[in-house]
Amino acid sequence: MNTDQLQNDIPVGLACDHAGYECKEYVKQLLTAAGVSVRDFGTYGTESVDYPDFAHPLAAAVEQGECWPGIAVCGTGNGINMTLNKHQGIRSALCWNAEIAALARSHNNANVCVMPGRFIGEETVEAIVGAFLSTPFEGGRHQRRIDKIPL
Ligand code: RB5
Repeated sequence: MNTDQLQNDIPVGLACDHAGYECKEYVKQLLTAAGVSVRDFGTYGTESVDYPDFAHPLAAAVEQGECWPGIAVCGTGNGINMTLNKHQGIRSALCWNAEIAALARSHNNANVCVMPGRFIGEETVEAIVGAFLSTPFEGGRHQRRIDKIPL
């Protein structure tokens, strides 16, 4: 897996709810096998939980520079993505294929990749994570647009 954009001194942050647990574990396995350090904010099993309880700690860690990037998963991706984007320092992108993931980095400088765990398979997950971790931000006109996001 190409992880060119990773900052080697800080871990990738992971978070999920019960519906995203298996996908999050798969991502953890992929990253660990690639020698990438991770910080897992849970959840740690398939018992039903509330995604904000895991999204907020991940968002705070990314905002504080303790993790980069975040990778988060719930069933559809929507709930955890909505929660993450309540944080001023977070640009969280819902990614369901590798091209969307690459564009989330190159155009949006996304700092969290969210996936819909109930709707994509392992091959797609690996492609999304690889694209997200290897694609640089283009800057330029995209920086101007990002600068206009905060209210
Ligand atoms: C859990 O059943 C499900 O609602 C959650 O994972 C997510 O899809 C919410 O947006």
